[in-house]
Amino acid sequence: MLVSAKEMLNKARDGKYAVGQFNINNLEWTKAILLTAQENNSPVILGVSEGAGKYMGGYDAIVGMVNGLIKGLNITVPVALHLDHGSFEGAYKCIEAGFSSVMFDGSHYAIEENIEKSTKLIADANAKGISVECEVGSIGGEEDGVVGAGEIADPAECKQIADLGTTMLAAGIGNIHGKYPANWAGLDFNALAKIKEAVGDMPLVLHGGTGIPEDMIKKAISLGVAKINVNTECQLAFAEATRKYIEAGKDLEGKGFDPRKLLAPGFEAIKATVKEKMELFGSVNQA
Ligand code: 13P
Repeated sequence: MLVSAKEMLNKARDGKYAVGQFNINNLEWTKAILLTAQENNSPVILGVSEGAGKYMGGYDAIVGMVNGLIKGLNITVPVALHLDHGSFEGAYKCIEAGFSSVMFDGSHYAIEENIEKSTKLIADANAKGISVECEVGSIGGEEDGVVGAGEIADPAECKQIADLGTTMLAAGIGNIHGKYPANWAGLDFNALAKIKEAVGDMPLVLHGGTGIPEDMIKKAISLGVAKINVNTECQLAFAEATRKYIEAGKDLEGKGFDPRKLLAPGFEAIKATVKEKMELFGSVNQA
């Protein structure tokens, strides 16, 4: 059964580890992430961007697929199905379809409008036991068509949004979606500490988890980050493993063209990436 992200993130905050949000693109992705979470006895959040939602045939199809896999694969660890960087309207569509968690990315609105929309959404979602992630400041780079300038979040604005009853807060601290450029200045830990001071107990979310060095991940967790989003790294791992299979001509040997064989190396590569992240984030055996 899908669960809200609230309990797992509060537990992670108290236990000083983070729960990974891994974005899904199709059945292989979803199955690989769910099985890895189960094998490692880890809670997990499946992230769905609006673009991925369209790609997979809509939110109802995703809810059906995820619930079906949880049942069919005997997944018993806590799983949240979460809209990633959602619009206001998109968040309502996901709630309607049966998601257990939504992100409303109101960071491109003026703070007053972000507050107004977040307030309404939080009230409606909380009434159904659905967790809500809000965003202040913006995550740099591009995530499935959502482009951010990468501003550092203002702690006072973070407090205003946290005080609305938000479940978890994404605050820009120099993190970027996609690969980090060679001249990246790193995460702004001073900003993170100030945000944490302003928002108190609120579990913080670190977007752009791909390519953040291990020491920075650990420091971010020690400063209050309880959810870390990873997307690009699974895509890179899948693509590399698939390329190797094809370049080695394995699709031309026997029935190597069978999709179950052709997609297997990429599937295993996603599993390995997710396991590595769960170990780094400290969520193994925390289900
Ligand atoms: P990456 O693609 O950089 O891992 O970021 C994922 C993310 O933050 C999803 O919201």
